This record gives sequence, C-alpha cells and structure tokens, in this order.
Amino acid sequence: MSQRTLVLLKPDTVRRGLVGEVLGRFEAKGLTIVAMDLRTIDGEMADQHYAEHVDKAFYPPLRDFVTSGPMVALVLEGDEAIEVVRALNGATDGRKAAPGTIRGDFSLSNRENLVHGSDSEESASREIKIWFPDLP
Ligand code: CMP
Repeated sequence: MSQRTLVLLKPDTVRRGLVGEVLGRFEAKGLTIVAMDLRTIDGEMADQHYAEHVDKAFYPPLRDFVTSGPMVALVLEGDEAIEVVRALNGATDGRKAAPGTIRGDFSLSNRENLVHGSDSEESASREIKIWFPDLP
C-alpha cells in the first residue's frame, strides 16, 4: 500500500555534509520525494513536532539540538514507506543501530541520530500537516 511519511534530516546531517548521502539512500531505495524544504525551526515548532516527548527527560537537549541549525524536511512516498524509511534509518541509538542503516553507519549517538521518520500512519499524517500544511 502506498504511503507517505515525514522525514527530517536533522541539523547534524546538514552540518556534517551528509544530506546527499542520506537522501541518496532514500532515492536509491525507490521512494519518491513529494515535498522538500530546508528549514530552521523554533522551540514552538519543535514542541509541536515532538508533542509526545515534551515531558520526557531527554526532551530539553533534544529541543536545543533540533533548533540548532537547518534541517531538511521531506515527505517521501512509496509502498510501505513508513516501515521502509524506519528500516533504512535503523535503531534510534546510533551506537546500537545495525551497520548498513543510516544511523548504524554514521551516528554514535542516541540524540544526534541524523534522521527522523514517522512511526505510524497517524504520526505521518499529523507530522505532514505540521510541516507541509499546503501539500495536497
Ligand atoms: P526521533 O526518531 O526523531 O524521535 C525522537 C527523538 O528523540 C529520537 O529520534 C532521538 O533523536 C531522541 N531520543 C530518543 N530517545 C532518546 C534518549 N534516550 N536520549 C536522547 N535522545 C533521545
């Protein structure tokens, strides 16, 4: 079933010059870019995006991190896109993510883990509305 998912290439991806590498993996897999924007967000936008995490202990430094520089926001589309992107991203903690995944190959951190991908259809539609409200 074709799905859409919201993907963020976080500030570490942009700072480290890995946008092409990471985007290339999604494209090579066969996913279609249906929206893309380079954006620096404020704390309010971070709170909206991470609404389910705002009360967690790890959130304040995560908020500082995701507002620290530009991110590439994407909507990717394809068959089972939500699960496919999560598999390409790898486990949240880069130290534990399998080699061959984006986080497994490029991240040594639980926070600075390069990418975000929606975790369910409900999250995808909520997040796509936040980031790309005008996308048909
Ligand atoms: P993401 O997929 O964007 O969803 C929530 C983010 O919070 C996650 O990637 C990490 O960047 C961050 N995160 C999750 N758990 C932790 C943790 N235990 N410590 C620090 N950051 C975390």
